[in-house]
Amino acid sequence: MKSAPPNLDWLNLPNMPAPIKALFAGYLLVIGVGLCMAGLQIMLTHGMADGKFGLSVDDIVYSYYGDRSGSKLASKLNGSMQDKAPLEVRQDIIKWVQNGAPEEQCEPHFKGVFARNCIMCHSQIPGIPNFTKFEEVKKEAAINKGATIEGLTRVSHIHLFGIAFIFFFMGFIFSFAIGVPRKLKIFAIAFPFGFLLGMYYHGGSPSLT
Ligand code: HEC
Repeated sequence: MKSAPPNLDWLNLPNMPAPIKALFAGYLLVIGVGLCMAGLQIMLTHGMADGKFGLSVDDIVYSYYGDRSGSKLASKLNGSMQDKAPLEVRQDIIKWVQNGAPEEQCEPHFKGVFARNCIMCHSQIPGIPNFTKFEEVKKEAAINKGATIEGLTRVSHIHLFGIAFIFFFMGFIFSFAIGVPRKLKIFAIAFPFGFLLGMYYHGGSPSLT
């Protein structure tokens, strides 16, 4: 004799015990704030890559293909580092960079320039170049080839693992929603995963790397 499948009609959001509701609500709130921060972060870094506020195709080109007519140091000084030094100082640095950033001019002049304007951050904050070291200045002064394959695979694997977690918990919570047609619910839960894979497929194609 075949037993009937268990009736799970009671298993939905309104019927969840209060502690589970608190857990779901807390998670959704924090994820929501996280999304706002992610948006702000993208505006302040990639959004400023071309020196103008807001996202544009140029931002994507500069960030991933690089601005091969110049160096990262020069493009940042016209972009997100624009407010860190007055115009004459920035032009002075850019001219030195365009001359190939010769080391003999670094001491004492440019060492002093970086010390006055940059190293309060660029020697303290991990993950950004340390401008007390000439080799790191030199690296930023080289032709800007954009993102490297190693950089892209590093960011991709962290993102794929992290974002899959977010989608999993979001989908899990909303799988208990009521009043949504079953097919629409399945589509809404599966879509983000498909989108993520599709996006990485296109992002990994030769057009961007
Ligand atoms: C208030 C802190 C602060 C100061 C001062 C500052 N920077 Fe930055 N810099 C940052 C942060 C944070 C980033 C990473 C975010 C970004 O790329 O905009 C960064 C990124 C950069 C990058 C890109 C690094 C990379 O490899 O992605 C360059 C080049 C740069 N800064 C140059 C300068 C120069 C030159 C000065 C001095 C004129 C300067 N910065 C002053 C905080 C600062």
